[in-house]
Amino acid sequence: MKRRKFVMLAAKGTGAAVLSSQIALLSSCDDSVPVTAPEVLEAEFKRKLFVPPVASGSGVRLIARNNIFNVMDGLQAEVLGYLDGSILGPTILANSGDLLQVEFNNSLTEASNIHWHGIFAPANMDGHPRDIVPAGGTKIYNFEILNRAGTYWYHPHPDMRTAEQAYGGLAGFLIVSDQEEQALLLPSGIYDIPLVIQDKNVDANGQFPYILDSNDQKNGLLGNRVIINGLHAPFIEVNSGWYRFRLLNGSNARLYNLSFTNGYPMNIIGTDGGLLAYPEQVNSIILSPGERADILVDLSKLVAGDEFFLQSEAFPGSIYQGKQGFRILKIVATGQPGVAFQLPSQLSGYLSLNPNLAIRKRSFDVSNGGGHSGHSHSSSAVVHVIDGKSYDENRIDVQCSASTFEHWIFDNTIGIDPHPMHLHGALFQVLARHGGRAKVFPHEKGWKDTVLLMPGEKVEILVRFSSHVGVFVFHCHNLEHEDSGMMLQMKLD
Ligand code: C2O
Ligand code: CU
Ligand code: CU
Repeated sequence: MKRRKFVMLAAKGTGAAVLSSQIALLSSCDDSVPVTAPEVLEAEFKRKLFVPPVASGSGVRLIARNNIFNVMDGLQAEVLGYLDGSILGPTILANSGDLLQVEFNNSLTEASNIHWHGIFAPANMDGHPRDIVPAGGTKIYNFEILNRAGTYWYHPHPDMRTAEQAYGGLAGFLIVSDQEEQALLLPSGIYDIPLVIQDKNVDANGQFPYILDSNDQKNGLLGNRVIINGLHAPFIEVNSGWYRFRLLNGSNARLYNLSFTNGYPMNIIGTDGGLLAYPEQVNSIILSPGERADILVDLSKLVAGDEFFLQSEAFPGSIYQGKQGFRILKIVATGQPGVAFQLPSQLSGYLSLNPNLAIRKRSFDVSNGGGHSGHSHSSSAVVHVIDGKSYDENRIDVQCSASTFEHWIFDNTIGIDPHPMHLHGALFQVLARHGGRAKVFPHEKGWKDTVLLMPGEKVEILVRFSSHVGVFVFHCHNLEHEDSGMMLQMKLD
């Protein structure tokens, strides 16, 4: 923890001016030598999946605290959580139009706060990095849910401490429903399962202290174990019927190429900001940190004892990660009948934005100067930037008008790292991707708050701003990139 603070403070001190003078040097340094991510280790899938308890959004208390929890079978780890005795937080349920009322108590030994990822919160309720709750402090978050039904989530967002606190275990789902969704009679209750996928660097004692080596500082932390809902290698028993799985990549930096080992298709019904217009059937989904995919799966043909896995397959595009496939969750059939369901042809009638009506076009260079990352040669500090600038809470980078929409471009054409770009105070529609994978994927339709730029890619989005005025941040959701400066401020008037 001490070392981390030192590194990050040093990074701040270098600032944008120093950085731009360093960019020229980057091409000559040895950053481009490919190093490989740590190997992901599996285990026997013998513990039952943990499903965090649900809580009503109209009155819930979240206490950020230190807990002991067996992430690895039989090994007690020091974790962070909002629940009594476990990692993660409750799944908060709310309806559109409800007042969200959360009492946040910070029982950590350092400042924290809560950001409602994907939600149109007022600026002072959004968990802006400087709106922090000191150790021992309390804050009431209350505001009206303006979002459509969808799978949102919450996590801490204090300046330069987001990565470590989220990695420790502070995160939870915020699931919003509305009438349009309820009319679809989607699989619900025990047939609607939120799944957060994260990776941890676990040592021989089952602990995963937040320690960054120089690869982690550049690429973001990649762990040697992939956990789901806080457990390594769990299993879930399923009945023979339809299931709704809400997939969230809650990792600091790892991308997953998710699929089922038995080839079962994934019917995507929703993305970050809610339901799609109609279901999209795919066999795999690349999910980057912060992104969600809401999928329906037909398990009605399973017979007792059948088993298969949710896995991440190898994928191309990054020199650092994606080389290895691994299994995450074992799915075992009970043979009991589940729920019958007919996939509807229409899901939602959301409005698709017309690029010609965007009030302004802006472009942001997220390539970090084409290096592995922009970093200072004068110290060990690593800095990540957008348009050559690292985060400064005293500088407004972009001024926009609330409730309007603009045409934005994130450009990673010369970049060699993946960057999942995320906006607060807005949702967007992905218009196009140029270079690299050169297309918009089914899980990128609808309303999004995070979009992945692989190396060599440029993505165009139509950004619809919140009706709430004030200062919001936008950043790379690789949390090590974010904490080391890859975040700017947008002011909505
Ligand atoms: Cu989930 Cu500002 O982030
Ligand atoms: Cu967010
Ligand atoms: Cu990044």
